[in-house]
Amino acid sequence: MRHYRIAVIGGDGTGPEVVHEGLKVLAAVARREDFTYETVQYDLGGERYLRTGEVLPDSVLRELGQFKAIYLGAVGHPDVPPGILERGLLLRIRFEFQQYINLRPVKLYPGVETPIKNKGPEDIDFVIIRENTEGLYCGAGGFLHKGTPYEVATQELINTRQGVERCLRYAFEFCRQRNDQKKLTLVLKTNVLTYAHDLWWRVFQELAREYPDIKTDYNHVDACCMWMVKNPEWYDTIVTENMFGDIITDLAAILQGGLGVAAGANINPQGTSMFEPMGGSAPKYTGTGKINPLAAILALKLMLEFLGETRAAQRVEQAVAYVTAHKLKSMAAGQMGYTTSEVGDLVVQALEAQRE
Ligand code: IPM
Ligand code: MN
Repeated sequence: MRHYRIAVIGGDGTGPEVVHEGLKVLAAVARREDFTYETVQYDLGGERYLRTGEVLPDSVLRELGQFKAIYLGAVGHPDVPPGILERGLLLRIRFEFQQYINLRPVKLYPGVETPIKNKGPEDIDFVIIRENTEGLYCGAGGFLHKGTPYEVATQELINTRQGVERCLRYAFEFCRQRNDQKKLTLVLKTNVLTYAHDLWWRVFQELAREYPDIKTDYNHVDACCMWMVKNPEWYDTIVTENMFGDIITDLAAILQGGLGVAAGANINPQGTSMFEPMGGSAPKYTGTGKINPLAAILALKLMLEFLGETRAAQRVEQAVAYVTAHKLKSMAAGQMGYTTSEVGDLVVQALEAQRE
C-alpha cells in the first residue's frame, strides 16, 4: 500500500480554511486511488509569533525536513511587521530545503472568466518556472549610516552557476515532458543586468545544445508582460529568475481567473517540497466562508503529482474543472454562489461521481 506523510501548515488568515477543504479532497481521492496518508499539523504563523515570539524554531524545521511534502495555507498577518513571517517562515523553508523550483501553472479552466478579450481555455495554458532560492531574494545587503542623510542601502542580486544550471535543467526537462509544443521561453533582462543575466544566458545556450528537440526563445521581462496579455497562446513553458518570476506569476494569475484559482509548488526534486495556493492570508475574509478554496485544491493536485500519484492528480483536476464549468458563478471571494466549505464539498462530489 502506498503511504504518505504530509506536514500541514494552515498558517495565517484564511490559510487554515482553504487547507481544510484541500484535505477533504485528499481524503476522497485517497479512497478512490487506494493510497493511505497521515497528516501532521504545525502551528506556525503570525498568531504563534505574536503569542510566543517564535517564527520557525530549529527543532520544527528539522521535523519538517522528514516529510516529502508540506501543504501550506498562507503566511502574512496584519499585526506583524512586513518581512518577519515572509523571511522567517516562507522563504526560510524554501531556502533551507533548497526548493529551487517554484512551479506555477497558468491554466484557464472551463467556465472561468479571464479579463483578456477573446481568449479562452485553448489560449491560456502554460507554466512558469521561477528560480526560488537566489537573485534579489537571497537576503544579502545592508545599511551604512542608517538613519542619517547620507544613508546607503544595498540589496544584492546574486546568482550562482550551480543555482542557475539546476533551475534551467529542470525547465528543459519539464518542457520536454509537458506536451508536444516543446517551447521554452527564457525571461530576463539581459540588456541591463549584464552580469547576472549574462550568466543565465550563457548556461541557457549551453543546455539548449543538449536538448535539440526543444525550441528556445527569449523575452525581456517587460516585453513578456506585454505579450502575456496580448498573446498568451504563444507560451508553453517560461523559465525566469526569482524576482521577475514573483511579479509575472501574479500577472499570469489574473489571466487564469485570479488568486482564487492560482497554485504553486516549491520543489526540491530530491527533498522536502511545499505546495501552496498563491493568494495570501486575505485577513478581511478570515472566518467568513467567502474565500475560494480551489487554489488550495489545485495546490493539492501539484502535491499529488510530486508524490507520483498521477491519476489522483488528474482526478482532482477534472473535479475542479467540473466545478468551474458547471457550478461556481465566479472565482472571486464572496461571489462564488457557494461558501468555502460548499465548494470543497462540490469538488469531493464531482470526484466521487467520476466513473473511471
Ligand atoms: C509568493 C509571495 C512571496 C514571494 C512573499 C510572500 C515572500 O509573493 O510566493 O509569490 O515574494 O515569493
Ligand atoms: Mn508573489
